[in-house]
Amino acid sequence: MNRRIFVGGAAAAAQSAFSQSPNDQVATAMIGVGNRGSFLLSAVMKQPDARVVAICDIKPDRLDKAATAAAGTNPKTTSDWHKIIDDKSIDAVYIATPPYLHAEMAIAALKAGKHVYCEKPIGTTPAQIRELVKTAKASKKVFMPGQQLRSMIQLGDAVRKIREGAIGDLLFVKAQRHASADLPYDGPSGDWYYNYQKSGGYLVEQSVHNLDLCNWVIGEHPTRAAGFGGINLHKDEPKGRDIYDHQSITYDYANGVKLSFTQMVFHPRRMPVNNQTLNVYGSKGAVDLMPAVQFYSIDGKEQNEFSPKVEEKNDAHMRAFFDAVRKGAKLPADITIGATAALTAILGNEVCRQGRVIGWKELGVEV
Ligand SMILES: NC(=O)c1ccc[n+]([C@@H]2O[C@H](COP(=O)([O-])OP(=O)(O)OC[C@H]3O[C@@H](n4cnc5c(N)ncnc54)[C@H](O)[C@@H]3O)[C@@H](O)[C@H]2O)c1
Repeated sequence: MNRRIFVGGAAAAAQSAFSQSPNDQVATAMIGVGNRGSFLLSAVMKQPDARVVAICDIKPDRLDKAATAAAGTNPKTTSDWHKIIDDKSIDAVYIATPPYLHAEMAIAALKAGKHVYCEKPIGTTPAQIRELVKTAKASKKVFMPGQQLRSMIQLGDAVRKIREGAIGDLLFVKAQRHASADLPYDGPSGDWYYNYQKSGGYLVEQSVHNLDLCNWVIGEHPTRAAGFGGINLHKDEPKGRDIYDHQSITYDYANGVKLSFTQMVFHPRRMPVNNQTLNVYGSKGAVDLMPAVQFYSIDGKEQNEFSPKVEEKNDAHMRAFFDAVRKGAKLPADITIGATAALTAILGNEVCRQGRVIGWKELGVEV
């Protein structure tokens, strides 16, 4: 049976209020159930204090698949996200649509009194982020960005030690996010990914995680940046592509630290340099944060595990969201973190596109 037709069969069903969750479970709606949204959906379904009451997606096949997966709680389905916003019985929304839609949806949900888990990047333009920051700060509801590195115990431990001076004075950070190929052009995200306005390109859509980790380690946001980018391999692939296939950016921080960041999509799979790296250099030695957390003393005599490897729970970030909603627990990532990460990536794009040094203040967003 086609789940969507079954659930939404009566035209009136789309109009009616979604069912109220029993007990004190958080009545949760999912907006966007593609690749990431379906992963989040299955994780929400496993939370004892949450209940999936509604699902929204404009693609009928995805809506069907998600509604079938969540059939146990009989969620209502809709292709119109405004219906989720308007439904007063919904306590919380998960937003996992393409990036350019995040801010508008999150602002509407917060204004309607809902808690919001918003996938990264939380916005693709300074204007979107400015408005979202204003709304989230004025709201009493929880807003959490999907910057899940912030919930990783090993990274948190390493960052704390670095900030406490374990590698001496912080001097320099070198990081990269390389891929060995573009995302498939006919794949599930091919209809938005290669459009700069919709995705923000690789830097904003993907490196926002890596840049967030850099900011976390450095302890502040950059004050300015310079860099270059271009399309050297995938010219007009797919047709109309306007996102870079490589970028090289330097960020300058007020504490004197520089971050050198590169991004590309032609890093051979078997090349013996990891696709994602993040090295933090201090006056006593350096720490490799990605992919392993290792310390190297500056004299070359010592090498050790800087922070113990732990079994990370892959729903830790989500758990933190529900703990914040239910018990007021402190968020591992909040609006300031989400905004700072997105703005750092946007700044990196802007310097490449405008070909000049641009200051953080020029973005015009107070975070
Ligand atoms: N935190 C992470 O590690 C992580 C991992 C992957 C993706 N993401 C983020 O999740 C978001 C989605 O990425 P994805 O890979 O799932 O993309 P996707 O294309 O697979 O899924 C997006 C879904 O949103 C739906 N959608 C588009 N417009 C909509 C609208 N107006 N109303 C309702 N639904 C709409 C699409 O039909 C699609 O099903 C992106 O922002 C991405 O950066 C985060």
